[in-house]
Amino acid sequence: MPPPNTFTSDTFGARQPFTSDAFGFNDGREVGLRDYIFSRPDVETKLRNDPQAVIDAISEHNAKKGMITLGRAKIDKCNDLLSKLDPPPKTLVELGCYVGMSAIGWGDSLKKLNESTSETCKVFTTELDETIASVARDLIALAGLDDVVTVLDGPAAETIRKIKTEGQIDTVDVMFFDHWQEAYLPDLKECENLRVLRKGTLILADNTDVPGTPDFNQYLEDSNKYHVERYETEAKMAKIVLAATVIEVP
Ligand SMILES: C[S@@+](CC[C@H](N)C(=O)[O-])C[C@H]1O[C@@H](n2cnc3c(N)ncnc32)[C@H](O)[C@@H]1O
Repeated sequence: MPPPNTFTSDTFGARQPFTSDAFGFNDGREVGLRDYIFSRPDVETKLRNDPQAVIDAISEHNAKKGMITLGRAKIDKCNDLLSKLDPPPKTLVELGCYVGMSAIGWGDSLKKLNESTSETCKVFTTELDETIASVARDLIALAGLDDVVTVLDGPAAETIRKIKTEGQIDTVDVMFFDHWQEAYLPDLKECENLRVLRKGTLILADNTDVPGTPDFNQYLEDSNKYHVERYETEAKMAKIVLAATVIEVP
């Protein structure tokens, strides 16, 4: 357990990440996305069991609606980084699921990277909002990835503590930070306390440049336990994917 007054994502309720109307959140757009996808005439013929087609359909819709998904450029960069891990990653935890777009990307990627072995891979993704989590579950099932990707409701820190305690995870191969930025650093420290990071764990994080996570970035930079790199992508905003590899167990 963290000491009293430690600020983790358990502390956070719903919060607006962006104030601009163009980037509203939890305003019906998420359920609207599900309605749109499931009313498409090609939902069964083109989208069902095709993760990349589902990502493209979500992406196309979300670009018009200004929704806060990761976007193709950063998904591709992250996949490129995952493909360089040896052995291939089998366990990934995501902090911040939203409508499941990045989770579909992770599930598809882990499945493909491990297809030559019989080993199972698992993605656990955490989401504060129950309605949004239900949209994600439906889209993940449509993509045919519900055997790999599990959406867990509730604050990320609490969820990670629970799955670690219950033995669903031990250490993880990849940890992806994409929830509210104030929770990045406290939740990283909680991951350290829970011993879910191992030597070689890859930490990926979005939005470290915009809106920005200066405390999280500084903590990683100042620590001799992480090797930090930043990759610029073609994304329209928040272009950077931050990648920190654990070089010594913190
Ligand atoms: C930027 S969106 C995630 C986008 C998603 N990863 C994607 O690219 O498709 C952030 C999400 O994190 C969720 N969230 C915020 N704080 C959280 C917390 N402490 N624990 C779990 N989820 C959280 C929000 O409800 C929101 O849906």
